[in-house]
Amino acid sequence: LTAPGLAACGAGTVSAETLPAAISRVESTRRKGGARTVTHSLVAKPTRLDLGGVQVDTWAYGDELPGPRLRVTAGDVLRADLRNELPADTTIHWHGLALRNDMDGVPQVTQPPVPPGASFRYEFTVPDPGTHWYHPHVGLQLDRGLYAPLIVDDPAEPGRYDAELVVVLDDWLDGVAGTPDEQLDKLRQGGMHHGWPQGMAERPTSLVGGDGGDVAHPHLVANGRVATAPRSFEARPGQRVRIRLINAAADTAFRVALGGHRLTVTASDGFDTEPVETDAVLIGMGERYDLLVTLGDGAFPLVAAAEGKPGRALLVLRTSPQAAPPPADVRPAQLSGRVVTLADLRSTPGHRLPARRPDRTLTLRLGMSHRGYEWLINGRAFDPRRDDLPIQEGERVRLRFVNQTMMFHPMHLHGHTGQVVRADGAGPRKDTVVALPMRTVELDLDADNPGRWMVHCHNAYHAEAGMMALMGYT
Ligand code: C2O
Ligand code: CU
Repeated sequence: LTAPGLAACGAGTVSAETLPAAISRVESTRRKGGARTVTHSLVAKPTRLDLGGVQVDTWAYGDELPGPRLRVTAGDVLRADLRNELPADTTIHWHGLALRNDMDGVPQVTQPPVPPGASFRYEFTVPDPGTHWYHPHVGLQLDRGLYAPLIVDDPAEPGRYDAELVVVLDDWLDGVAGTPDEQLDKLRQGGMHHGWPQGMAERPTSLVGGDGGDVAHPHLVANGRVATAPRSFEARPGQRVRIRLINAAADTAFRVALGGHRLTVTASDGFDTEPVETDAVLIGMGERYDLLVTLGDGAFPLVAAAEGKPGRALLVLRTSPQAAPPPADVRPAQLSGRVVTLADLRSTPGHRLPARRPDRTLTLRLGMSHRGYEWLINGRAFDPRRDDLPIQEGERVRLRFVNQTMMFHPMHLHGHTGQVVRADGAGPRKDTVVALPMRTVELDLDADNPGRWMVHCHNAYHAEAGMMALMGYT
């Protein structure tokens, strides 16, 4: 069924059978005359990758890690044809985009999964500029090589930078220490001691926790390379570089710093913030930060140290061909310097939600089951048939995440970019907000994009073990 004014949606062997009125309404208000259609083909398939002297058999989009970088301008229509050559069902979720619900890539909720051998056409208007990414929303597939950046340019943005570096961080398991699914089985068999406090005190600026103590992550990678064979980025001294940082890891937060430089945070989860200078940033799974830096003369290590566990990823920014490369274990002073926190970040006036009292506050208590490796929201594990968080279109909704565990949980919201609640009404816009151990964090959103939307922990293991919920409205 095709709604008036819309291109046919769905293609190949799987397609959306119906297009609810609410979705065609959202799309038609966004789709502007003269918008470009940007077309891409993506093939999800088994492949062998080189992580820098380490060969792994895995699943990826093509033969690259990260997968193909997609680039569009806000207002464009993105048409991505996914071909599934995996031996399993898959989908693509466009992480960070407030797109039409039926293109959100959640199996059993927004579309039937795409079976092996089949194709699916994703086609939607891209509403907002920013640094985003895409990955499957099936099981633990994102903990393989199935992830890639999605950069949305702002047609109105003045040239604020000379060069751009997209950095995707990941904790690598697949093909090195078994598959992610085997790892989850191991956690489940390990029973309830996994994920319980491991003597880690509450450290507000630190994302301690995660199952890092248990999950074997022998490799941390930046743009697909381990620290002993880092990628290098060439620029000229004095150039202003925009670093777009994406954490695609399943179970690792990173503390990121650039040797010899301070960083200026200019956006969180794709939305502009008032510039803040910092030595380092802490980035949870699913989060993005845009950083601006004016480069000196030399070869500088961009170090991403795993938080609360050993290991690091590395990338080298080089402005002088003669400069000696930094050693793989380099530890720049900035890594132990000031770390920007959510409280330091303010969204720019043009990016704030209009001041308004919430019409409804929904509390999500983040907890653990006593029965085994099961993560819960309000005492329940995920069930795709159940709407846990009923809201209504037009409402200002406050999501209150109450973390009752000693782990941190990066809570991700589909289809909307909320705003962190703060007294001055200028909290940063975020689609992924870290709930620190035993702390509460609140996110306001405007219910202006009808559908059934996931709210879940972006620790892939927590999500797969139940820590997901549905927020539905029509
Ligand atoms: Cu990046 Cu629901 O996920
Ligand atoms: Cu979690």
